[in-house]
Parts: sequence; C-alpha cells; structure tokens
Amino acid sequence: MSQEKLTGIREDFPLLKKGWIYLDNTAKAQTPRKVLDAMHRYYTEIGANVHRGLHTLSLEASKLYDEAHSKVEKFIGARKGEVAFTLNTTHAINIVASSIDWKRGDEIVTTVMEHHSNFLPWLRLRKFGVKVRVVDISDQGFINVDQLRNSLTERTKLVSVAHVSNVLGVINPLEEIREIIDESDASPYFLVDAAQSVGHVEFSVRDFSPDFLAFSGYKGLMGPTGIGGLYYRRDVWEEIEPALLGGGTPRSVDSEGYELMDPPASIEAGTPNIAGAIGLSAAVEYVSEIGIRRIEKKERELTSEILDGFERLKEGGVKVEYYGPGLDHLESRIGVISFNLGGKDPHDVARAMSSFKICLRSGHHCAMPLAMRLGITRGSVRASLHVYNTMEEIETFLTSLKEVYDLV
Ligand SMILES: Cc1ncc(COP(=O)(O)O)c(C=O)c1O
Repeated sequence: MSQEKLTGIREDFPLLKKGWIYLDNTAKAQTPRKVLDAMHRYYTEIGANVHRGLHTLSLEASKLYDEAHSKVEKFIGARKGEVAFTLNTTHAINIVASSIDWKRGDEIVTTVMEHHSNFLPWLRLRKFGVKVRVVDISDQGFINVDQLRNSLTERTKLVSVAHVSNVLGVINPLEEIREIIDESDASPYFLVDAAQSVGHVEFSVRDFSPDFLAFSGYKGLMGPTGIGGLYYRRDVWEEIEPALLGGGTPRSVDSEGYELMDPPASIEAGTPNIAGAIGLSAAVEYVSEIGIRRIEKKERELTSEILDGFERLKEGGVKVEYYGPGLDHLESRIGVISFNLGGKDPHDVARAMSSFKICLRSGHHCAMPLAMRLGITRGSVRASLHVYNTMEEIETFLTSLKEVYDLV
C-alpha cells in the first residue's frame, strides 16, 4: 500500500469523520468501510448457512467462510486447519481450559499482568485440585523470567501468558518463555493470549511455537465484534477432545457414540458467526494492505510523543504518572498507555476528557491483580492507539489533560 493510503486512511472509517478523538482502541478499534461492505454483501446477497446445504447460496457462504479461515491462518503463520473461529479471546481461552483433561495436582503458570479472561478460567480449575502459580513483574512491567523458570515443576501442565499487556502495553518475551518451557521436564502446553498483539505487532506463530493462541477480531484487526480465533497445533489438539459439541462437529453419530470431524469443524460447535468471519476476512486483508510494520511504526511514534508530552506536563507542574516501559524501552511496548493524574479519580478524568470528545478508558481494565500489584486500587486512565490516530490528536489529548488537571 502506498504512503498516500496511510495519509488518507481516516477516510476509510465512517466514525472518525464525526469529530471524535478515539483513543480507546484496546477496548475496541474502529471498523473500516471494507469490513462493513463485506458483511453487508453477505446479508443482502448470500444470507445462507455454511456447510449445511448444496444450493448455490449455501455453497457461496461456505466458500467465503472457508476462505476466511485460510486468510487468518496465513496472517498468523499457521498451517491449514490450525485456526478455529470463536466468539472472542475469552471464548477461545475457555475452550482450552474446559477441554484439557486436568488431573488433581496439575499446575498452571501464569502472570500477575493477565487480563481476567486469561486468569479466571485457570483460577476456576482450583476447585478441581489444579494449582495456579502467578509470576510477578518488575515495577516497569517486565515479567520476572527467573521466577517463571523456577515456577515450572514436573506437574506443570500449562503456561499461559499475554503477548502484550492491555494495561502496560509491554510486549512479553515469548521466544525466551518458549525456550524455558522447552528446557523444563514436564513439557507443558504454552498458551498465548494475543488479544492485544494481533494487528499491532508483527509475529508468526512459528516465532515462538505456542500450542494455543487466542485472539479477538475487533481489536487490532479492526474487524467486527463476535468473532475471534483459537490457533492450536494440529498434533496437540489430537490429544484433546473439545468440550463444546453439537451440530457441525461429528462425522458420524449413533445412539452409542460419535466420531468427530477434524478441527476446526470439531471445535466450532453450532452455526458460526458467518458474517463475522467474512468481516474478519476483509479486516485481515485491510490490515495486510497497510502492513503491520507500518502500523507498529506509526503507533510507536505516537506513543513516544505521548510519553514525551507527559514529561513536558510534569515540567509544567502537572503530576502525571504512567505505568509500563518508558521512553528508554520504547521497542518493548506498544501504544497502550495507562496513567494517573495526581490523586485524581481516573473515572473523573476520563469523563472530563470525554467532554472534549476524547475517548479514553478508566478503571482496572479487567486486570485487578495487576492494579493491586501496581498499588493503584482505583485503577488508571488508559489511552490506546491505532494506525488512524494522528499527531494532532495527541497534541489535543495532551493540552486537554492539562485543562482537566486544573479543572477536576
Ligand atoms: C489481553 C487481553 N486478553 C483478553 C481480552 C478479552 O478479549 P475479549 O473480550 O475479546 O474476549 C482482552 C480484552 O481487552 C485483553 O486485552
């Protein structure tokens, strides 16, 4: 895609024409016209179910749905048949948590920075006798890798870590964690929560060979809500029986039992989100046309401007404190910047910023253990970026913060 395309990119997003400064991309990104058009076409020109009919419309729906799998697989470096569509990251992680055959005494290693969706499914297993070990982070948000190494025992069955924190923006060292897992006696499964990396950080699953990787379609990828994915290594999934079964999953059934289809069909029980998958397919095409490297570069420039701006605000007497890696570790973070303004309530700050048409998130960001670890029990305000954000928007954000500091 040409440079002109990056300049004119905002034209692709209907909502951005309405004067909002949208800095809540970690919660949900805006959706480009291309995605909306693909979904509209499905509903107005096809509208049939997939893999359930031999009429032309059903065949066309199945073709687009299958193509969506191939596009997403290619995008994350997976092989054919290694991605199942899910509702979102939460659904994907819960499929894994409920499908593994846990035994009393099995252990799970995760970290204190995780989103609740990569925490609660593991904590829930405690009632079946599974032990959960939680690895700490440094004050700047880096995983304590030595502690992670020492947490692995011969009973560790799974290590589950976010690729990128939705609060700190820190990119975790997945290749190093893979090596640690490979050196351990128990060969646990490795699950990566890629909710905040896909669409923002260039990666292939071949880089760190996860056994599972969960993601959502509507964040970095700018697709619709209600669609996400679960990558699984084919050989690994052969050891596991999916916990959710029903229409679309069996090859044959009689009153004595059933034989399942190969994945992904065996994992995608019931009628899938067909329009969502087709929208996601268009979204992956859109992001690929821009290029992840350019998205990363743009977001890093804007992040640098925000962190610099915070330093200038401090010099001007505004008490601003942010969490996660600083300017000296820009390469280890993406454009998710959580902060507090002096002792001001984060919700009051976000509400006041909204009166300037600036969209931010406030609170715990579904990561309460992390808020406690950071000692910010009331949470923080979060600004999060995507490729369509501009330097002018960042300047307005910084000036408005100063006004809000004086007002609230
Ligand atoms: C790191 C991380 N994991 C998991 C999730 C859950 O994603 P979803 O709500 O799409 O299931 C989020 C959502 O923000 C997230 O940031």
